[in-house]
Amino acid sequence: MSSIDYSVQDLLIRPADHEETSADMKIIARTARLSGHFSVMLGEVRPGEILGFHSHQNEDQHMYIIDGELHFEVGGAGGLRFTAGAGDNVLKPRSSSHGFWNLTDKTVHYIETSTQDGFETFVDSRSDGLMAMLGGATEELGMSFETDRTLEVMKEFGLTGIAGANANPEELIRDPQFHEAMRTNETLREMVFYLGGAALKDKFQGLIGKLPPLPGRGR
Ligand SMILES: [Fe+2]
Repeated sequence: MSSIDYSVQDLLIRPADHEETSADMKIIARTARLSGHFSVMLGEVRPGEILGFHSHQNEDQHMYIIDGELHFEVGGAGGLRFTAGAGDNVLKPRSSSHGFWNLTDKTVHYIETSTQDGFETFVDSRSDGLMAMLGGATEELGMSFETDRTLEVMKEFGLTGIAGANANPEELIRDPQFHEAMRTNETLREMVFYLGGAALKDKFQGLIGKLPPLPGRGR
């Protein structure tokens, strides 16, 4: 008589079983399946994208890179810089600022494990809108975002997109919280200008036209 209380379906998770989310992350296993201890997700970074700098007060994270190569910075400006490729594992201890970006012409896929359910809750909150996701994370989940550093590194490497957020200009334009953020957050505004050099610019033109100019630059 076997002592195993599980079915094969409980233990074997195939690609078709991955849970799609509104963010650019697929959930492989929620913390609820793992006694609340950690979650397992599948992420991707497309060519020219950065996963913007942030830190988690409550979660340690681990990444396993399936294919391609990513550049990392951990610890903020002047911190550790390294590249990691297929088969490599990267640890991101709680409270450490981290971000990573793809300078190749191929999408990079990775597995991420995160302790506790905070990051899982963050990914879930994407369904309520990007600004709700970011604001809620800062207030409730102990995550903080370093938009300034993200923009600096985007400029340093000529990066053209942000991974993970799955930002849709049409959605952002409809979001009153985004309008407010554009009015009050100069770095965010500069980032939109920066990204707007390509297709985003037309989308935001109506909104940007109503905003005060950034110091030292015309509109
Ligand atoms: Fe993270």
